[in-house]
Amino acid sequence: MCGIIGYIGEKKASDFLIEGLKRLEYRGYDSCGIATADSGKLSLRRVSGRVGFLEEAVEKKPINGAVGIAHTRWATHGIPSEDNAHPHTDCAGEIVLVHNGIIENYAELKEKLLVAGHKFKSETDTEVVIHLIEDKIKSSNPPFSTSEVENGGFESVFFAAFKKAIADIEGSFALAVIWSKCPDIILSARLHSPLVVGIGKDENFVASDVSAFLKFTRKVVFLEDGEIALVRKNSIEYFDFAGKAIEKNSVDIKWDSSMAEKGGYKHFMLKEIHEQAESVENTIRGRLLPLEKDILKKEIGLDFKDIKSLSHVQIVACGTAYHAGLVAKYIFENFKIPTYVDFASEFSDRSKIIDKNTFLIAISQSGETADTLCAVREAKESGAKVLAITNTVGSSLTREADYVFYTHCGPEIGVASTKAFLGQLSAIYVLAIHFAVMLNKISYIEAEKYVKELIKIPRFVKELLSRSDEIKKVADKYSDYEHFLFISRYVNFPIALEGALKIKEIAYVHAEGYAAGEMKHGPIAIIEKNMPVICIATNSKVIKLLAGNIEEAMARGAKIIAIVDEESKKHIKASEIIEVPKTLEMLSPLLNTIPLQIFAYYIALNKKCDIDKPRNLAKSVTVR
Ligand code: G6P
Repeated sequence: MCGIIGYIGEKKASDFLIEGLKRLEYRGYDSCGIATADSGKLSLRRVSGRVGFLEEAVEKKPINGAVGIAHTRWATHGIPSEDNAHPHTDCAGEIVLVHNGIIENYAELKEKLLVAGHKFKSETDTEVVIHLIEDKIKSSNPPFSTSEVENGGFESVFFAAFKKAIADIEGSFALAVIWSKCPDIILSARLHSPLVVGIGKDENFVASDVSAFLKFTRKVVFLEDGEIALVRKNSIEYFDFAGKAIEKNSVDIKWDSSMAEKGGYKHFMLKEIHEQAESVENTIRGRLLPLEKDILKKEIGLDFKDIKSLSHVQIVACGTAYHAGLVAKYIFENFKIPTYVDFASEFSDRSKIIDKNTFLIAISQSGETADTLCAVREAKESGAKVLAITNTVGSSLTREADYVFYTHCGPEIGVASTKAFLGQLSAIYVLAIHFAVMLNKISYIEAEKYVKELIKIPRFVKELLSRSDEIKKVADKYSDYEHFLFISRYVNFPIALEGALKIKEIAYVHAEGYAAGEMKHGPIAIIEKNMPVICIATNSKVIKLLAGNIEEAMARGAKIIAIVDEESKKHIKASEIIEVPKTLEMLSPLLNTIPLQIFAYYIALNKKCDIDKPRNLAKSVTVR
């Protein structure tokens, strides 16, 4: 996730763009840049680091022009650095572009563009787009004549080239491009990444979200996937990707600027909960079998020879990432790959049983958690190969690991992890399926069964999120309880732990997560009417056992909140029923987590807790 903004008007573009970037910094903050066009020339400033540094650079060496674009980056391809920072330029330094999203077919496009003589200056996926536009302009026919230029010929060539370029790219993008030869327009397009147009007086904007220009205008047009905006200072035209003109209606935004950064949500955590369909989709897209059977080789350099002598998988992680690791154990072992999971902070002694046949997976949203880094170092000393699952390009973990598999969730701002967890689970499914096929543990046909269902998950997530109000009502009813017990079995047992962790973290309520079968060995002694039991009871081979555990809790006076699906609900008696879409048992953690996040969120809200920054906690724990 990155933030983009464009300005076209009569005033100094850089003032608006820097101001806008500050509002967009929550979308990424590892590097940033700005470009303006003035008297047929482009000016460019880029820095590694936060928008404050860019502001200083522009103050020291101002840039003029009443049209410009800017970007704040959250790296996905290529480390955070000045060279990889946007805007990116074509070979001639005349066209400049900012991008939010991922160009999935960038490698093959880059190959062709290199053959055609283009010179690349960065490691990003984005840069192919600008060379592609340059290429399409160069091959435009007929070449420009003076009269064409006078009649706006450059604009039509630019528009045609832009349209052709976006037809060639696959993946997700929100783009804004300017060409010094036609400084009266910004071209912008959207596919699976947000983009909004701001309509001012004698000036217009494009941006990743309204917070970027809310100070200057509240009149906006939201672009949909497959739409292009051709923005001038006094008018905006909209097109579909085929170039057909379309009508769009504007809306007036009533949010204040802090709400706008949060996409209208009260907290980043709630926004991030609502971004989880994208987390799953972005993490699995283009990486699934059977079509993409060489993807691990292509993407992270890992193939059969790297895992053929694997004796077991060892996972290390902390906090919520550790719960993703626990789910991973069930997934890998379902595919007959022995897997151990440890808190990274408890790994010290376990590292003695690590050797060169151990494949260690370190899971960390930030890639900076001190205990996880330490565990990785120890494992490497013992000869293990290390794969990192992380959301943060260029983090310490990515530098220590042999292989890096990114989750593509965008920055997570809320301290309590939500969308990163779903990204981690998605990455685990992708890896486990690939490992199982490579190691001949399952057939392609069986792999396909999981792949087909995994692809449906983003839709199920959206459907579930659209029913958040039902979960809020349950949370409102249970906001005064001081203790909760979360139970489940098998692959959803870690989700019980995660549900309890969420409510502890953000609502400061005592909660325990327990394996339902273990309840009778202790926790049942404390169950009474003031301790609601939340049971994750979606369709499972152990559903009848779970139903029995629910009866035991009910018999001790506990209220039961059950997470069920259409199949399992016939087995379950409960005070409250929350139904989630039905999927394969192995994939159900992806859905079952969501009601628990929403439940914790609304309890914390009712208790007026500082949800995005809970007391005593930090987003990234860099001490041991
Ligand atoms: C902190 C955060 C948690 C996170 C954990 C691990 O405790 O508050 O939300 O799960 O660290 O962080 P990591 O960045 O390694 O996933």
